[in-house]
Amino acid sequence: MQELSVRHLLGIKDITAEDLQLIFETADNFKDVLNRPIKKVPSLRDITIANVFFENSTRTRLSFELAEKRLSADVINFSSSGSSVKKGETLLDTVNNILAMKVDMIVMRHSSPGAPHFLSRHIDANIVNAGDGTHEHPTQALLDSFSIREKLGEVAGKKVVIVGDILHSRVALSNIFALQKLGAEVMVCGPVTLLPKYIKELGVKVELDVRKALAWCDVANVLRIQLERQQMKYFPSLREYTLYYGIDKKMLDSLDKEIVLMHPGPINRGVELSSDAADSHHSIILNQVENGVAIRMAVLYLLASKK
Ligand code: CP
Repeated sequence: MQELSVRHLLGIKDITAEDLQLIFETADNFKDVLNRPIKKVPSLRDITIANVFFENSTRTRLSFELAEKRLSADVINFSSSGSSVKKGETLLDTVNNILAMKVDMIVMRHSSPGAPHFLSRHIDANIVNAGDGTHEHPTQALLDSFSIREKLGEVAGKKVVIVGDILHSRVALSNIFALQKLGAEVMVCGPVTLLPKYIKELGVKVELDVRKALAWCDVANVLRIQLERQQMKYFPSLREYTLYYGIDKKMLDSLDKEIVLMHPGPINRGVELSSDAADSHHSIILNQVENGVAIRMAVLYLLASKK
């Protein structure tokens, strides 16, 4: 049996192109399972997984929980709100107490970049990073590339633009790593204040004009403006952002080719995307969510064999 090169999924930066292909092929099989009347397999029976969320989530948390249940794992859910973190318990004490209950794997979202990497140096259980601050969100990038592969046949050679708040986005960094490892050309587009200074060192194209970016690409992955992470004003107003960087259906329809529209969610409707664009035939946003379950099943299944 083929194996992953890692025993934790901390980021896409740490995994190989072969790992990506193995995850996709495993997810293909699990997607078939999810389309059957009986959607459950016994692959992770007797494995216990804790979903440890120190930050809000809808898609990632529910998708991991469903993936775990479809694999017949035992699941416990921890949310920092309402927990003893509020009494001052540390991250390591919290996780070590969860592990003392005979837990095998930790899926963790945390607002601090590097929190899962820190944990991996102190605990034995497999760890999956479900988003660490502005750093990485590896399973989001996996499901995004998997969805491009499903829609366009392959990722290699495709032109993908990531539009919006690149500076505060963990989705952008993980997507850049995944897309490049899979052989896509990557562009980022947004106001210069929302592009990190080091961005060109990652080997991506940079475009400030969203209309030119849309004309160039096969796929546009549009990011949420992350107002909760912005410590200062990066643009004059949301209205002005929408005027210059908002994407609507008219813009997509006016292109001389079909492009695929993606968004990791949650969408700020009427800000980075109009409702008529988000809900149009260009959009594969809900396919991304659907694919997230198969991708997370594949990641958990493959990591469970890496003790
Ligand atoms: N895409 C994503 O991570 O969404 P949630 O924050 O709802 O999990």
